Amino acid sequence: MEVVIKSSPTEASKSAALLIKKTILNDPACVLGLATGSTPLKTYEELIKLYQEKIISFKKVVSFNLDEYVGLAPADKNSYRSFMNDNFFTRTDIQIKNTHLPNALPKSIPEECKDFESKIKKAGGIDLQLLGIGLDGHIGFNEPGSSLNSRTRMKTLTPETRLANSKYFSAIDRVPKHVITMGLGTIMEAKICLLLAFGDDKAQAIADMIEGPVTASVPASVLQFHPRCIAIIDESAAAMLKRKNYYTQVYDDKPGWQRWE
Ligand code: F6R
Repeated sequence: MEVVIKSSPTEASKSAALLIKKTILNDPACVLGLATGSTPLKTYEELIKLYQEKIISFKKVVSFNLDEYVGLAPADKNSYRSFMNDNFFTRTDIQIKNTHLPNALPKSIPEECKDFESKIKKAGGIDLQLLGIGLDGHIGFNEPGSSLNSRTRMKTLTPETRLANSKYFSAIDRVPKHVITMGLGTIMEAKICLLLAFGDDKAQAIADMIEGPVTASVPASVLQFHPRCIAIIDESAAAMLKRKNYYTQVYDDKPGWQRWE
C-alpha cells in the first residue's frame, strides 16, 4: 500500500483530484467508483474546478457509488443519490444516466444487489475506487465482521456508524438501519483503490488498516492485499503510524514516472 501524508485535508484532496484527473485523461470513458460522506467533499470541489477550467470532462465517465440507505427514495434529501447530485453530478457534465447508485427501494434487495454487480461488470469494472474510512475501519458500509470476499448486499449499520451519520439527519432514529453496499470483494476488484482520511479521530482506524493484521474486524485492512491501493491522508490521521517517516521518505524519493502531481 502506498501511503501519502499531506499537511492538510485541502492538500490531500488536491492530490486525490490530480490522481483522478490522470485517470480521466488516460481514458475519458473510465469507470469511477465514488463515495459519499464528509471526506471526499473537497476532492469533488477540486474536480469541479478542473471541469470548470476545461481541463477534464466527465461526459463519457461512468460512475458507481459504494452504497445507499435502504428505504430512502432517490429524491429524499438524505439519500446518497441526493448527496451526489448536489455535491458533484449536477455541477459537472457527467451524464446522469451514466451514474449508478444501488436502488434502495427495490422489489427484491438480493435481485438489486445482483443487478448492481452485473452493471459494474458490464461497464468493464471499476478503474479507480474512491474510499473514505469509518471510525471502526469500515469501507463502503462493510462493518466489522464483514466477509473479506463479500459482494454487494444489504448490511446493518452499527449503532456507532448511525451515530456518526446522524449529523445529516434531524434525529438519530431517522438514520436508516440498513444499507446496500458494495462488498469488500467488489471493492478489491477496482484497478486502483484511493482511500482518503482526515483528522485525529481517524488515526486509530488508519493505523489498524495499514499496519495492523488483515482481519474482518478491521474491514479496510483487506486493502493490504490490493495490488494498487493509495492512501492519501493528512498529518492528524497519520499520527499513530509507526512507519510514518518511511512513508514520507518513499513519497519524497518517488521517480517522476510514478508521480501524478
Ligand atoms: C460513504 C461510505 C463510508 C464513508 C465513511 C466515512 O459512501 O461508504 O464508508 O466513507 O463512513 O465517512 P466520513 O467521510 O463522513 O467520515
